[in-house]
Amino acid sequence: MTISRPSGDDQLSIEGLSVQRGGRTVVHEVTLEIPAGEVTALLGPNGAGKSSTVLAIGGMLRPATGAVRLDGRDLARRDPERIRRAGIAIVPEGHRLLTELTVEDNIRVATYPLSKEQARAGRKRALELFPELGARLGNLARSLSGGEQQMLALAQALVSKPRYLLIDELSLGLAPVVVNRLIPTIREVAESGIGVLLIEQFATVALGLANRAHVLQGGRIRYSGSASELRERPELLQSAYLLTGRHDASPDVALP
Ligand SMILES: Nc1ncnc2c1ncn2[C@@H]1O[C@H](COP(=O)(O)OP(=O)(O)OP(=O)(O)O)[C@@H](O)[C@H]1O
Ligand SMILES: [Mg+2]
Repeated sequence: MTISRPSGDDQLSIEGLSVQRGGRTVVHEVTLEIPAGEVTALLGPNGAGKSSTVLAIGGMLRPATGAVRLDGRDLARRDPERIRRAGIAIVPEGHRLLTELTVEDNIRVATYPLSKEQARAGRKRALELFPELGARLGNLARSLSGGEQQMLALAQALVSKPRYLLIDELSLGLAPVVVNRLIPTIREVAESGIGVLLIEQFATVALGLANRAHVLQGGRIRYSGSASELRERPELLQSAYLLTGRHDASPDVALP
């Protein structure tokens, strides 16, 4: 499938981003683009700095250096709420729902900063993408399956109609059948014009969805290029994973 590349500057540009944690630089001058209307994969072994990169883009971690450019403005070091209002939504790794509230209330909380009109449209859109949630609106979030909880986390990020969606670990803890359910929806989200950054433990899933891919290892970008090249040359990916002793095991996930 080809997705036409948006023209001009319709992208979120991360330039020379460095992040320190625990007195150590864990992300070193990372540069990558997240174009609108397509999926960009961010791969790499445990501890590579994927989550730190996403948290720094979202303003939850303060980057030591670098820029997060959108429409010619630099959003780096702004607070998370400001970055979200600029149209960047994040589903952090291990995102926690309000488990003692209902599905409806979890969606409502995410619409809080929006106008009534925007909230109604956002809720409608989220329930179109995840009809499973529509059937469970009155249920407590903690009663949902793992897959439904991930759908609700995605719905919460999508209600505000973001321009960019950064997903940290789409399939973590989910069965392959559930991952297969989510794949076409992520594709649909990108086709609607949203730029998606996808961090995903299963490289086959991420590379099946993505146009472009970046591999992080030891906080540095080791590969930036087309996802199809990385699919065809798995040794490029393996070398990054093997450096830290982690092997990428792929589940039995069929890529449509
Ligand atoms: N709260 C923290 N305090 C100090 N160091 C941290 C903290 N969280 C993560 N780190 C360190 O930062 C580095 C990057 O971690 P990060 O969580 O960004 O990696 P990751 O690529 O998301 O890994 P994973 O695949 O395991 O989720 C690691 O060396 C990690 O030990
Ligand atoms: Mg992580």
